[in-house]
Amino acid sequence: MRIGLLGFGTVGSAFAEVLAASGNEDVRITHVFNRGVERKRGHERAKFVATGAVWTERVEDVLEAADVDVVVELMGGLDPVEGWLRAALGAGKHVVTANKQLIAYRGAELFALAAEKGVQLLYGAAVAGGVPVIPGIAQGLSGDVITRISGIVNGTCNFILSSMEGGADYGEVLAKAQAAGYAEANPSADVDGFDARAKLCVLARLALHAEIDPEQVPAQTISTISAVDFAYAKELGCTVRQVSRAEIADGVVSASVGPMLVPKTSPIAWSRGTQNMVVTSGRFGGDVVFSGHGAGGHPTAVAVMSDVRAIAEGSVQVRLPAKKMKVVGDVVAPHYLRFVVADEPGIVAAIAGSLAKVGANIDSILQHRGFGGDRLPFVVTTEPCLSSTLKGAVAEMAAMKFMVEPPVCLQMLVVDDRDTD
Ligand SMILES: NC(=O)c1ccc[n+]([C@@H]2O[C@H](COP(=O)([O-])OP(=O)(O)OC[C@H]3O[C@@H](n4cnc5c(N)ncnc54)[C@H](OP(=O)(O)O)[C@@H]3O)[C@@H](O)[C@H]2O)c1
Repeated sequence: MRIGLLGFGTVGSAFAEVLAASGNEDVRITHVFNRGVERKRGHERAKFVATGAVWTERVEDVLEAADVDVVVELMGGLDPVEGWLRAALGAGKHVVTANKQLIAYRGAELFALAAEKGVQLLYGAAVAGGVPVIPGIAQGLSGDVITRISGIVNGTCNFILSSMEGGADYGEVLAKAQAAGYAEANPSADVDGFDARAKLCVLARLALHAEIDPEQVPAQTISTISAVDFAYAKELGCTVRQVSRAEIADGVVSASVGPMLVPKTSPIAWSRGTQNMVVTSGRFGGDVVFSGHGAGGHPTAVAVMSDVRAIAEGSVQVRLPAKKMKVVGDVVAPHYLRFVVADEPGIVAAIAGSLAKVGANIDSILQHRGFGGDRLPFVVTTEPCLSSTLKGAVAEMAAMKFMVEPPVCLQMLVVDDRDTD
């Protein structure tokens, strides 16, 4: 099994090390493609690439090489990678990638091309890095009818929110995540949910057999979450996590990504630091939890290596059909509404009036002592209702003259304690 490696960065170089450590002499890297390739030859992990391998800045040297059986793509992004992988598949080469954007946005066409050419396209590292959620669903759970997936697929957001749970401030902990290399200088893809929704779509295809467009999945930022939300969440027996969830019922997919109140009894609440956690709910097998290191060069390289081994051993992949489906962003759930107001009489009545207009029932009102009257945070929770019905009420409340900042509206995750037979 001869490998052409595209990208010798964090994961690419770690893959070279993991492959070398496997002692598997039947698998070797014959080509490494990267821009500025001389710089990469001086990389501390370049020693793990077999002597005699071709280091090149011309991608054609890999795509057209007769001595490349598998192209391992560890560069990332849609362009120019998509075209290159089409060329590799078209030339009858297997492809292994860790690229969630590519699989989320272009997966359908690429899988069709791989099937037509009789080659494999594996992407076990594209979601949750070293946690085998993709092969776990594709092989171990393909016998069940999975109706829901939910969990934490963005380690940066989990690092930020689990640190805030310990008392840190959002801005402070974001700066720490950036300094530690967990968060980009522009953290939008992580904190605004775009990275997570691409991963959610990759999982939805596999688990729910639903081909969904990432752009249709509503994504809510975690940047509005503050320390006070953790204090109120605690009182409700919950914490706050960025949750990605997709569910299929009566042929309709509902999906969303954003901060949610998660009961402390849910495994999702137990995730700490950059840990990832995915819970699948099957009609017959019940809930299955996958957790571990969702990112980092070595854990991700393990998933890549496992895919390479599967191809080398000629493992037959279970083909799971997927159908194009529209996404409904709406869910029925209890909701948490947090307000910061300049105190005056009649505030609760005004808020209750807005909620009554859309038919949402109040479940509880929480107000902690010790805040000044000019910035008073308090919380209203609702009984289960459609998130779309609350939208109008939240917009109306945001315009109320006592509102110091826009209200924060979060879904509250309900723990499903159904037993299986
Ligand atoms: N890092 C993780 O924890 C993790 C986890 C799961 C999945 N992934 C996925 O793994 C893939 C690789 O991520 P990474 O963290 O290893 O990224 P990275 O460190 O930035 O490595 C990417 C490599 O590709 C090279 N490259 C990028 N664009 C290129 C181009 N147009 N032409 C030639 N070379 C190019 C880069 O060269 P330069 O050095 O010149 O930029 C770099 O060596 C991505 O799809 C990512 O989403 C990463």
